[in-house]
Amino acid sequence: MQPKLLIDDISKLLNESKRKVKKRMKGNCAYQNCGGKVFLTHDESISFLDFLDFKEQVMSFHLIKGGVGKTTLAQSVASRVSVYGAKVLCIDLDQQSNLSQAFGKHQETSPNVYDILSKNIPIKDAIINVCPGIDLIKSSLSNAKLDHKIFLDNHNVETFFSDMIQDLKLEYDYIIFDCPPTLGPSVKSSIIASDTIVLPINPDLFSIEGLKICIEEIKNLADSYNKEIDIKIIINKYDNRTILSHEISQFLFETDYFKHLVLPTVVHNSQDFSNKLSRGMSIFDSPSQKKSAKEIDDIVIDLMELRLCQTKK
Ligand SMILES: Nc1ncnc2c1ncn2[C@@H]1O[C@H](COP(=O)(O)OP(=O)(O)OP(=O)(O)O)[C@@H](O)[C@H]1O
Ligand SMILES: [Mg+2]
Repeated sequence: MQPKLLIDDISKLLNESKRKVKKRMKGNCAYQNCGGKVFLTHDESISFLDFLDFKEQVMSFHLIKGGVGKTTLAQSVASRVSVYGAKVLCIDLDQQSNLSQAFGKHQETSPNVYDILSKNIPIKDAIINVCPGIDLIKSSLSNAKLDHKIFLDNHNVETFFSDMIQDLKLEYDYIIFDCPPTLGPSVKSSIIASDTIVLPINPDLFSIEGLKICIEEIKNLADSYNKEIDIKIIINKYDNRTILSHEISQFLFETDYFKHLVLPTVVHNSQDFSNKLSRGMSIFDSPSQKKSAKEIDDIVIDLMELRLCQTKK
C-alpha cells in the first residue's frame, strides 16, 4: 500500500500553480513520479508540508447498522490524512477484521485488543506497521470475546481505552477506531475515549433508525462521563439515480436534529472502494485518482480540520 498526494492536490491546497509547486519541491524535498504524475508520499510530506497543523484527535467510526461503510471510510480517511504527513494509528475492534484485511494485514500473527487484555501484553507490542504513516492494531476472531472479557474482569468502560491509548496520543496525530456494528462495552469505551464519532449512513430508512439510536447513546455517554464528544454524520453510498438518496440527504440536511452534524460532502456509490480495499490498497494508491478520492479528501479536510499555518514556507 502506498497512498499518494498528487501535485494537483498540493497545488489546490497551497493555491499555487503546479509549475510553482514543482519548482519549490525541487528545492525542498525528494518527490516521486509515476506515469508522468508527480506526487508525495507520507515521508516526503512530513518535510514539504510541515506547516500543516493537525488537530490531534481520537476518532471512532461507528454505527450499529452493519455494512454502511465504517471500515471503508476509516481506511480511506486514515490513508488520506497520512499522506498529508500525519502519523495515524488504526485500531480494528471488529472480530470480522475487515480493516485489517483492507490494510492487507489480516494474516499477521500480532496480538489484538483481546490478547492485550487477556495475556497482559503491552499495547506497543501489538502495533504493526502498514506503510509509512500508518500503524495498526489488527483484529482477529478472538476479539469476539473482548466484550465478555471486559465484563468479567470488571473493567471500567470509562477508562478502559482512554488509559490504554493515553501514551500513544503523544506519538500519533490521529488514533482511529473501527468499531463493529454493536453497542457493547468495547464500543462504548472507544466512544468515551474519542473526541469525534464518525457515523456513516446509507440512504435508507434502516440507517436512519440506527443513526438515531447511536446519537442518543453517544449523548448519554458524553453526559454520564462529562465528556465533549463531536458527532459527524457522513452520507455514504449516495446514488444520484435514486429518489431515496435525494430524500434522505434532504431530510438530514434540513432537520434541526441532524443538520449541524452532517458533513456537507456526500460519498457516492463507487466500485473504486471495493476494487482497492479488497486488494489491501487505498483509493489513493493509484496515480490517476477518481471522484471517490476527491470526496474523501474534502471529508478529511473537514474532519481533521487541516489548517495551513500563517507562515507558509
Ligand atoms: N461509497 C461506497 N460505494 C460503493 N461501495 C461501498 C461504499 N462504501 C462501502 N462500500 C461497500 O460496502 C460494503 C460494506 O462496507 P464496510 O465493510 O466498510 O461497512 P461496515 O459498516 O464497516 O460494515 P460492518 O458493520 O460489517 O463492519 C463493502 O463491500 C464496501 O466495499
Ligand atoms: Mg466494518
